Amino acid sequence: MVKTAVCLTSELLPGSMRGVEVLGRSVLVVNVEGTFYAVDGICSHGLADLARGKLEGHILQCPRHGARFDVRNGKVLTGPVDIEGRAWDLRTYPVVVEKGCLTVDV
Ligand code: FES
Repeated sequence: MVKTAVCLTSELLPGSMRGVEVLGRSVLVVNVEGTFYAVDGICSHGLADLARGKLEGHILQCPRHGARFDVRNGKVLTGPVDIEGRAWDLRTYPVVVEKGCLTVDV
């Protein structure tokens, strides 16, 4: 895994999120009440950009079909399923704050 600085923590206020590219991968970084999380930036159901979604507490809602995910662990809570009834969690990534900078480990 490779740690990559993605933004200053001061740029990501509580309740906000930002889509970033890390080593060619789309990642969404989120601030929930001062705690930072990083999950896949693309919805596991389709190709929706989750940075365009809605964040309420630790729940992230996809802008396309409304799947809801818990950003703390990437678990899909509700949303569309495939023809076999499966829904896919988001991958999560370790985040570290170092000297006011948010780094993501992918
Ligand atoms: S693309 Fe996200 S729920 Fe369908």
